Amino acid sequence: MGAAQSRVMNPGFGLGLRTQHYPDFIESPQRVDWLEILSDNYLVPGGKPLAMLDAIRAHYPVVMHGVALSIGAADGPDRAYLDALAALARRVEPLWISDHLCWTGVHGRVLHDLYPLPYNDAALDVVVRNVHIAQEVLQRPLVLENVSSYVSFRASEMTEWEFITEVCQRTGCRLLLDVNNIYVSSVNPGFDARAFLRGIPADRVQQIHLAGHSDHGDHIVDTHDHPVADPVWALYAEALARVGPVATMIERDDHIPPLAELVAELDHARSIHAKALAPATPERVRSPA
Ligand SMILES: [Fe+2]
Repeated sequence: MGAAQSRVMNPGFGLGLRTQHYPDFIESPQRVDWLEILSDNYLVPGGKPLAMLDAIRAHYPVVMHGVALSIGAADGPDRAYLDALAALARRVEPLWISDHLCWTGVHGRVLHDLYPLPYNDAALDVVVRNVHIAQEVLQRPLVLENVSSYVSFRASEMTEWEFITEVCQRTGCRLLLDVNNIYVSSVNPGFDARAFLRGIPADRVQQIHLAGHSDHGDHIVDTHDHPVADPVWALYAEALARVGPVATMIERDDHIPPLAELVAELDHARSIHAKALAPATPERVRSPA
């Protein structure tokens, strides 16, 4: 696909659109540059969600984020689901379309969770084949997000970042870097989060997700129901040093606060982004006496 080589765009700082905030976005302008919709909530023709989306879409660029593509499924992506995504894309004209580098079911049974893959050649072949199929139907590069994990597979033969790099090289797809997921996975099965950041192809990163988690002492659960934690903010700054300016979004899925709280959290992301990418102040040159 020729489109796979096009430049990665950066629309700025966004939020995940949640139904509680429909009135806020419709009634007054918000300090938010773009919105990420959960594609799966808008696949039914007609109804209130689509009407709201049409109204909000008139004022904010939108990106589509799905949870059911199951790009790692051995039996391939569901063609009807892909066609429905393509139809929604024709309606909302998203800046890009993302889903997760994971599997969500088998033999037509959907398990409603995002399961990590073993990182080996067999899984790589499946993912590469499926990404090509999805990109053909959607007519654009797919953007894939790293998922959080709680275990590692004995069958893995490479690191997650080596696997991601191979998928990008063989398909031209892009990355949605979820910095919270990197942190959660680095603590749970355990790896060096900095090695992850060094290992991914920085020029393929389309977007960053920031989210909260629940810390249970000996393990962390990726709950998306808290503000972003301090270690994740620190890792975000390190990701920016590696990736450069990049579209960034706060992702809250539960215990959703008033919009103003999320906008304030997004402002914190803006300030970290500005600080991390500010040109270094040149040392003052002493004038000769
Ligand atoms: Fe995410």
